[in-house]
Amino acid sequence: MSFTAAWLTLREPADHAARDPALLDAFRARITPATRILDIGCGTGSTLRAVNRPARWTLADRDPALLTEAAQNHPQAETLRIDLADLSTLPTADLVTASALFDLCSPAFITDFVAHLGRRTGLYAALNYDGMMEWSDPHPQDGAVVAAFNRHQRRDKGFGPAAGPEAAQILAARCEGMGLRATLAPSPWLLQPGPLHTAFVTGVAEAAAATGIDTQDWLAARLASRGSCRVGHLDLLALPDG
Ligand SMILES: C[S@@+](CC[C@H](N)C(=O)[O-])C[C@H]1O[C@@H](n2cnc3c(N)ncnc32)[C@H](O)[C@@H]1O
Repeated sequence: MSFTAAWLTLREPADHAARDPALLDAFRARITPATRILDIGCGTGSTLRAVNRPARWTLADRDPALLTEAAQNHPQAETLRIDLADLSTLPTADLVTASALFDLCSPAFITDFVAHLGRRTGLYAALNYDGMMEWSDPHPQDGAVVAAFNRHQRRDKGFGPAAGPEAAQILAARCEGMGLRATLAPSPWLLQPGPLHTAFVTGVAEAAAATGIDTQDWLAARLASRGSCRVGHLDLLALPDG
């Protein structure tokens, strides 16, 4: 599964507005200029921009085009091409970050990843989709389309059948099991009519249709609507004790 820089740029303002401010501040409090932070699935560097603290950042992704953009955006950071499927290639770090990543991953990958992380490395994983979408102007097909989209979210995105909407809860449970103190906080997108809402509902309709339901009328209604939409995400901060 690949993501374009254009899509990541389009969603970045909504992502930054959505992040839970208390978890972000608690994460920032752990950072000094000497801290080694590894951002996995970095895209163009959105998490570095959201955290916005000097540190020894390594931006890691599988996609060379996104990494090129990340390097141009953040020449002070190191960039690294990795496939997360092979955890042995991850460099060590004091803190690991991710955003909009773990809902793509399988429960088995999440278990292996947290075992690899261990009990001494903190994790800040923001913007994990939680399965909830609510429009201010309900449509009779909303429930069926969201359920179909959530089924599609559980398909294999390169890590085996994905955890999808359950990812953050699974990640929190594994981190707690590792002895980290895990906190979850809601970080919903609040979308008004505009380019991101248009791209989002178009993608939702396409994914839902791929599971076999007819989404044409729903999409036409959503594109014509002036309503707003709340899309659920969860942020996770898991820190070693002390
Ligand atoms: C939804 S994007 C999020 C990007 C960025 N964190 C952000 O919030 O804008 C998911 C990212 O994970 C990366 N990714 C997906 N599978 C990967 C894998 N197996 N190894 C490394 N990166 C991967 C993609 O290339 C993409 O950059």
